[in-house]
Amino acid sequence: MSRIDYHLRSRPRMADETDYSALIHEDRVHRLIYTDPAIFEAEMEKIFGGVWVYLAHESQVPNNDDFVLGRLGRRPIIVVRDSQGELRALFNRCPHRGATVCRQPVGSARTFQCPYHGWSFRNSGTLNGVPWPDGYATDFKDTRFNLAQMPRVESYRGFIFGTLNLAAPLLTDYLGPARQPLDEWLDRHPGGVIRLCEANRLKFKGNWKLAYDNAADGYHVVFSHRSLLQMENRLMSEEAKGMAFYKDKPDDAPMYVHYLGNGHHYKNKRPNICNEDQEVLPGALWEIEGHFPGMEAYEARIRDHLGDRADAALDLACSEPVNINIFPNLSILGNHIQVFQPLAVDETDTTWFGTAIVDDDGFLEGLADDINAMRMRTQESFPNFGEVDDLTNFEEIQAGLHVIEDEWVYMHRGLNLPDRFKHLDDGTVIGPATDEVFMRETYKVWADLMTAQPTLALQR
Ligand code: FES
Ligand SMILES: [Fe+2]
Repeated sequence: MSRIDYHLRSRPRMADETDYSALIHEDRVHRLIYTDPAIFEAEMEKIFGGVWVYLAHESQVPNNDDFVLGRLGRRPIIVVRDSQGELRALFNRCPHRGATVCRQPVGSARTFQCPYHGWSFRNSGTLNGVPWPDGYATDFKDTRFNLAQMPRVESYRGFIFGTLNLAAPLLTDYLGPARQPLDEWLDRHPGGVIRLCEANRLKFKGNWKLAYDNAADGYHVVFSHRSLLQMENRLMSEEAKGMAFYKDKPDDAPMYVHYLGNGHHYKNKRPNICNEDQEVLPGALWEIEGHFPGMEAYEARIRDHLGDRADAALDLACSEPVNINIFPNLSILGNHIQVFQPLAVDETDTTWFGTAIVDDDGFLEGLADDINAMRMRTQESFPNFGEVDDLTNFEEIQAGLHVIEDEWVYMHRGLNLPDRFKHLDDGTVIGPATDEVFMRETYKVWADLMTAQPTLALQR
């Protein structure tokens, strides 16, 4: 463990005089929250700094000395499992003159040497050495010459999060009721473990919140993804497979949106295949999985080898019809992990990592590769045929918001219709699939965060 030297800053760097109460109303939000560069800069501290932000998955750094590059807001970071096995998020920023010290996206290294003047650092962040130290009258044991790192990094069942906010709650408390769908999603995998695969890397010219607003939006699907739905319907005719639950009015279909607190939300599109304990019955997911050409031979082999257990095995190949959205930047949908990465007020990366099952216990008797090959097929359709529709919408919203005189963006579907909602004892809210209640609740949290003064700290 490197020496802890916290550099506290009690107030955000930006003088933020924005009146957030004027921008966020119960039924609408102001266009400036998507377009104002000063608000974006404040978000990089108060949200991407002040709350727990998803950084990486443990399967990307399975062994000591493994690292993967990432970002906290716009700050470049190196997520590393150091030589002692401790997970850290180092800032990829040389303490000498500010250059990034690591420029390889993923790898394994005990030390990082800055390419500019050759200072080198252990993967715990501690300075290892500088070239020709006789030219300095400096004590390089001073921790200010170590790489800065995030003071709090925690992992929840493989998902690595970090925050600069020393007063933030424990990660498990921050996730709160969102842990339940997350646990259910993980526990359908052998041993409750998944591994991240390669990704669809996409980018759009729009604000990051446009993607988060859309993450549980059941209102747009029939209209925005019309061509994808038509293609599926051609392949699957009358069967209740794939996205068939969007054939008619979504509010009448067996699905709902659940607001979970702290800006997290959940879209459950499979309550009709669960028993009363919310468990998915074996074979039920495979029953509703869409047709993907080429899967027949895999299915035949799995049925042949596994007999009675084939249904449960085939379920592992299926894309689970849920969206689990962890504020501010993680979305789990189907078998994907989608990560939102703000780059500028009007530019965002969205990366869809595929996931694979890990069969350490041998449940699949050596057929894990077959299941993962089928998973790849189920993971092709949405990012390629659906996400492009969404990204187009986000870019077209950003364009529309240039009408500066037309100030408001409405999110009032379901508002003042209390019969549409169920308020549960844990403070969460369940509503129809198309309602915008999850957005309204999230923007209350956003406004609270933006008016707070978090104590942000670095560690060296
Ligand atoms: S900027 Fe890194 S060694 Fe000079
Ligand atoms: Fe969509």
